[in-house]
Amino acid sequence: TLTQAEKAAVVAIWAKVATQADAIGAESLERLFSSYPQTKTYFPHFDLSQGSVQLRGHGSKVMNAIGEAVKHVDDIRGALAKLSELHAYILRVDPVNFKLLSHCILCSVAARYPSDFTPEVHAAWDKFLSSISSVLTEKYR
Ligand code: HEM
Repeated sequence: TLTQAEKAAVVAIWAKVATQADAIGAESLERLFSSYPQTKTYFPHFDLSQGSVQLRGHGSKVMNAIGEAVKHVDDIRGALAKLSELHAYILRVDPVNFKLLSHCILCSVAARYPSDFTPEVHAAWDKFLSSISSVLTEKYR
């Protein structure tokens, strides 16, 4: 669980990220698919070319879910319960991929807000994204 200081850091950087959430979401997916092309196998039905409507739409959905987790930082499990079932039972995304996406989100935020991305903010965001990943992968067994 996140400390009060970590929660505060997450909320503070989210206030900025939220204003560009769609762009950051799309960029994170672009980074995911270009650095880790094996992740594209989950999206055979998507046009994954840079800036495609589907990439942007999906990036926006992912960032919305992260926004819900920010809002309910003390109950991420409850906030993302439906998504957790979707990823585990329906989509069956291998848990390793969550680390890859989290890394790409982290990079996109860092690239956009370099001066806000202090080591403390980095660590808090990393921990927060890893809590989200735990929730989204905990139904697998
Ligand atoms: C769908 C969020 C990680 C693959 C979704 C949706 C959301 C979401 C909000 C849409 C659900 C709906 O339409 O009801 C997240 C979050 C993640 C995450 C917050 C982690 C931070 C991943 C990873 C993969 C993945 C790592 C695979 C590499 C998919 C696929 C869909 C989906 C294939 C369905 C896309 C479609 O057909 O529209 N995810 N996701 N997700 N996610 Fe994730």
